[in-house]
Amino acid sequence: MSAIDGKRAAAERACELVQDGMKVGLGTGSTAALFVAALGRRRPDIVGVPTSEATRRQAEGLGLRVATLDEEPDLDLAMDGADELDGSLDLIKGGGGALLREKLVAAASRRMVVIADISKKVERLGRFPLPVEIVPFGRETTARRIAALLRDLGLPYGMRWRLGPEGRPALTDGGNLILDLPLGAIPDAALLATALKATLGVVEHGLFVGVASSALIGGPGGVMDIGRT
Ligand code: A5P
Repeated sequence: MSAIDGKRAAAERACELVQDGMKVGLGTGSTAALFVAALGRRRPDIVGVPTSEATRRQAEGLGLRVATLDEEPDLDLAMDGADELDGSLDLIKGGGGALLREKLVAAASRRMVVIADISKKVERLGRFPLPVEIVPFGRETTARRIAALLRDLGLPYGMRWRLGPEGRPALTDGGNLILDLPLGAIPDAALLATALKATLGVVEHGLFVGVASSALIGGPGGVMDIGRT
């Protein structure tokens, strides 16, 4: 089974959790896009709150009803992809640059369900470079602060600015920059999450610790439904 088949299977299963009347956070990325496409075909009577401008455009294009998080601040469900998830359902997100809105939408939801193919499942988070959203002003001073923090924690402190298609720094929907941190295995994700959050110049990071309620993982054996342990 290819990764895309796994994503599609998880996205289709995710649709079964959506019921009429629900307010649903709509994630970002290729798996979330498959979920939104499936919703577009099934047309449940829901309001979707997109986590990015790309997802908003897709949902509106399919004729789904969408609202902002300020219009609908209490959501039943957030459905979103992940770049990695571990056995405790802690995540790395932000490969698509939408980590800040994704975290805000997940935090406003009664439950967050991750949809992914089996290749995203890891023993320990960190194989995927950790995205960190940074304010543009004084960006190099923030990068230096992060490097010092990583050194203190005994982690690799190489990092790279995410670039857009034309080689210029990529901008998030909020107009910020993304610094990708190739860390390898992260020994204590909760500790790193707290430390990054406390770093001046950091808007948000892609560690979602204790956020997801369950995950639908598509693989060769079908779709696994994993609950938080
Ligand atoms: C978007 O910012 C990310 O958090 C995505 O959820 C993540 O990159 C997963 O993307 P795919 O579904 O495309 O693998």
